[in-house]
Amino acid sequence: MWNKTTTPVIGLGKNFNRLVRWARTFGASVVLLSVASIEASARVAPKPDWSTQDIPSQMGRIVLITGGTSGMGYEDALALARAGAEVIIAARNPERGAEAIARIQQSVPNAKVQFEAVDLANLSSVHGLAQRLNQRLPRLDVLINNAAIMAPPERGASADGFELQLATNYLGHFALTGLLVPLLRQSDDPRVVSLSSIAASRGTLNFADLQAEQKYDPYAAYAQSKLAILQWAFALQRRSDAEKWGIRSIAAHPGVAVTELIARGPGLNSEFGQRWAEGRDAYHSAAQGALPTLYAATAPEAVAGAYYGPTGDEEKRGPLGFAKTPAAATEVADAEQLWTVSERLTGVTYR
Ligand SMILES: NC(=O)c1ccc[n+]([C@@H]2O[C@H](COP(=O)([O-])OP(=O)(O)OC[C@H]3O[C@@H](n4cnc5c(N)ncnc54)[C@H](OP(=O)(O)O)[C@@H]3O)[C@@H](O)[C@H]2O)c1
Repeated sequence: MWNKTTTPVIGLGKNFNRLVRWARTFGASVVLLSVASIEASARVAPKPDWSTQDIPSQMGRIVLITGGTSGMGYEDALALARAGAEVIIAARNPERGAEAIARIQQSVPNAKVQFEAVDLANLSSVHGLAQRLNQRLPRLDVLINNAAIMAPPERGASADGFELQLATNYLGHFALTGLLVPLLRQSDDPRVVSLSSIAASRGTLNFADLQAEQKYDPYAAYAQSKLAILQWAFALQRRSDAEKWGIRSIAAHPGVAVTELIARGPGLNSEFGQRWAEGRDAYHSAAQGALPTLYAATAPEAVAGAYYGPTGDEEKRGPLGFAKTPAAATEVADAEQLWTVSERLTGVTYR
């Protein structure tokens, strides 16, 4: 998997395959030269001051954002609607959905934005959303797996009996993405952008107690869910390459951003919440935190299989660039095990 010291040899999807086919007609040496130049260009980091001004027109693109009712997901929806995309916000609460749409339409009067109800911690709700979208959309160009909860003090369980953070942050997205692969494959530039966190570097996949039934530590469970989605984002790129789906799977994280995540998780009065509140003037706004995701979702040069985030102050904030990939996220054997377990738990097989 891509990190700052390795060279991506995946990443150009359909274009790469087209180039190789074309080059083969001229002989292998031309292929090698072409691959070398592709690698050089694929290594190019985003320009550090990349901003929403750099988003190319998204006219005609259909984007689904989980958790677009607040925080980074809302900012993704606003920026993508402004760029002309048809945006679908998928979250639990229709009232929050209507408020988000009204706010977007205040700034972007001709915004094409809709709400779809889904509870990612309920597999039947995830199936319902995927079924509705598969029935009514001609294709899906971008899926942004953004929704999450963080560190509820008590262990919660999803409708299907899974630990609530693993269910919401990872398993729901695993299932949703798998069910939407056929729709994504109808796009000429399909992308899946998945939100991880610097917390992933503190995570371990505890296969012996994945659902934290024996011991629940709210922060360890959050870190595990964010490591799981990162490791799976990389595995999805490998799967896409192997199956020639042409899907770019890209991971992103916002650094630390002021959103509703802490208030709705551990709470602002918790020890964690109080420490967080002390530093909040220095954190990214939700709009700044959304930039790595927006780059991954729209920049023509965004690298398949890459991980983007801020590059300053231990990646808590600062200019956009390649994020550091925790070693655990590159463990291919773990990723294969996670994929198998995820298929078993969700009943969703990718095809
Ligand atoms: N904020 C940070 O500093 C930070 C740092 C690292 C990573 N991240 C990541 O960034 C992403 C966005 O978080 P945020 O900070 O913007 O948080 P936020 O403001 O709390 O937004 C979270 C969104 O997720 C939705 N959501 C929660 N549970 C859901 C469920 N079961 N089904 C469907 N939607 C659900 C919420 O919508 P409803 O409640 O309306 O359903 C809300 O729109 C997350 O993946 C988070 O892990 C954030």
